[in-house]
Amino acid sequence: MNVGIRRLSQDDLPRFRKFWRENWGEEFVVAHGEVYHPHTLDGFIAFDAGEWVGEITYIFSGNDCEIVSLDSLRESQGIGTKLINAVVEEARKRNCRRVFLITTNDNLNALGFYQKRGFELVAVHRGAVNESRKIKPGIPLIGENNIPIRDEIELEMIL
Ligand SMILES: CC(C)(COP(=O)(O)OP(=O)(O)OC[C@H]1O[C@@H](n2cnc3c(N)ncnc32)[C@H](O)[C@@H]1OP(=O)(O)O)[C@@H](O)C(=O)NCCC(=O)NCCS
Repeated sequence: MNVGIRRLSQDDLPRFRKFWRENWGEEFVVAHGEVYHPHTLDGFIAFDAGEWVGEITYIFSGNDCEIVSLDSLRESQGIGTKLINAVVEEARKRNCRRVFLITTNDNLNALGFYQKRGFELVAVHRGAVNESRKIKPGIPLIGENNIPIRDEIELEMIL
């Protein structure tokens, strides 16, 4: 396998929307009460020959860079790490103070993944997913590891 990473371009947008719908259903993400449409954000795609095998999107706000979505379709092959590294590199170039993201309390895999890559837990926003569910009723009540999904957990990497 030879997975490459490249920046999402305007030309990718129709395919990216389709890719998102096929893999994750609804076309938007809710975090800290805000609605994001990943295809409107900056991002990188992981690809293997013509096949897309991962994506990451992010947004700059002041001196912060927020990772809005990260998904690997072939886990444990280094794709998630490559995508994170691409965004951290981009944030450094823009002189960001930190890279941060929100995950949910059930996602033990992501909590481990990020912490092993230098992110630290900075806040638990209790009940925030219950609020997000009012905007996006499709968010399941029970998530990964059979854990009720309730809270947003914020992680950051200071650059
Ligand atoms: C979290 C997520 C993005 C990680 O992506 P990934 O592609 O599996 O990440 P990597 O392959 O880089 O790393 C995962 C593990 O595989 C290991 N790995 C990487 N390359 C490997 C290889 N060639 N052989 C064996 N193991 C390997 C890594 O060491 C890592 O283990 P560690 O965390 O114990 O160090 C992925 O699990 C995912 O898409 N989850 C669902 C969506 C999600 O939760 N997104 C984040 C929410 S905010």
